[in-house]
Amino acid sequence: MKILLLGSGGREHAIAWKLAQSQKLEKLYIAPGNAGTSEVGENVPLKADDFEGIRQFVLEKGVDMVVVGPEDPLVKGIYDYFKADAQLKNIPVIGPSKQGAVLEGSKDFAKGFMQRHNIPTAAYQTFDGEHLQEGLAFLETLQPPYVLKADGLCAGKGVLILPTLDEARKELKEMLGGMFGSASSRVVIEEFMSGIECSVFVLTDGKNYKILPEAKDYKRIGEGDTGLNTGGMGSVSPVPFATKEWMQKVEGRIIRPTVQGLAAEGIEYRGFIFFGLINVDGDPKVIEYNVRMGDPETESVMLRIKSDLVDLFEGVATQTLDRRTIEFDSRSAVCVMLVSGGYPGSYAKGFPMTGFSDVRDSILFHAGTTMKDGQVVTNGGRVLAVSSYGENKEDALRKSFEGAKKIQFEGKYFRSDIGKDLA
Ligand code: AMP
Ligand code: GLY
Repeated sequence: MKILLLGSGGREHAIAWKLAQSQKLEKLYIAPGNAGTSEVGENVPLKADDFEGIRQFVLEKGVDMVVVGPEDPLVKGIYDYFKADAQLKNIPVIGPSKQGAVLEGSKDFAKGFMQRHNIPTAAYQTFDGEHLQEGLAFLETLQPPYVLKADGLCAGKGVLILPTLDEARKELKEMLGGMFGSASSRVVIEEFMSGIECSVFVLTDGKNYKILPEAKDYKRIGEGDTGLNTGGMGSVSPVPFATKEWMQKVEGRIIRPTVQGLAAEGIEYRGFIFFGLINVDGDPKVIEYNVRMGDPETESVMLRIKSDLVDLFEGVATQTLDRRTIEFDSRSAVCVMLVSGGYPGSYAKGFPMTGFSDVRDSILFHAGTTMKDGQVVTNGGRVLAVSSYGENKEDALRKSFEGAKKIQFEGKYFRSDIGKDLA
């Protein structure tokens, strides 16, 4: 099978690494990829949302399947683009239809969907600019802290958690006044939930689903979960509180009603669903849906899938996922992210990176790297994921921290407390 994988981050390198292990894989292309993905497949200089360029490439090379890494092409409708084209319609796209991608593209839609299907989540109401007064009145009925969410996609910046009513009132006015452009023309105000977060992933063919290994990610830049939010500083799988009993609650109350709800509403969905969950006094609740894998969770989760990922994707494409098996590796897997100095604020790029061959006990997934004059150089805020297996979390973390020290580039930073909050 010839597969084209779209995307260019650590998530895509980890998926590419896993696909490349399959006996069923004949050729792997990654568009646009990064310096790391070129080690496991062939990079193609096409943007992940250049549908016309992707169309030409797929037809020219005889690509049999397209796997979508990031949400952007999904929200823009790549699944539907393929379905509507006489020459592409039989080439499966692993990812939801445009309608399915709205689960991530609109917080209001996601909340309404959960309400319709009785899926546990925070109580909420949505307001637009014409209903500012009602929004301000709704805030008065809630307890602090206050959670405000821009309805649309804002590159991870659209959620504000405010400690006082005054700040919440001010921010609501600003958001509805165009703080995030059209993405915040509607704002979801919701109840604050207190607990530890956990990311749960499933692969669905629209009828059946397989649950993948769960993971916890670390979003803040500073140790002890302090400072600004980032694209993710590390991840750990499994998550100790995600016991068999807890996961049964997740499946019964959240996963099954979601997959059945999509089918009942006639929404085509053949891809990953990412459930951003929070454990509130032993009960899982949904914070958000994403329509793709998580980053940097994927850089741990892929290590823990023993089964052939191409086989699972075939199951998705042909709606025969019920006839496939998914086996987990019983070892722990973790990832520690190396980032550029200054990130998530401004940072410089283009610093040469060394030490790759000194790292023997970890797997290195490139996130923001590129090749310059035959040398790997930094090319983003999040640069490299150092992923490791271990007999337990501590063992895996020890290897990742050792690897993190061996890779050198100017301004390198990583959090040395990944996983330390978990039992
Ligand atoms: P989101 O963009 O929806 O993932 O939200 C960003 C982060 O805000 C989440 O990962 C949570 O840490 C936090 N968050 C969002 N909604 C809530 C909520 N209702 N209660 C507590 N924390 C929340
Ligand atoms: N790790 C969170 C995300 O991928 O959105």
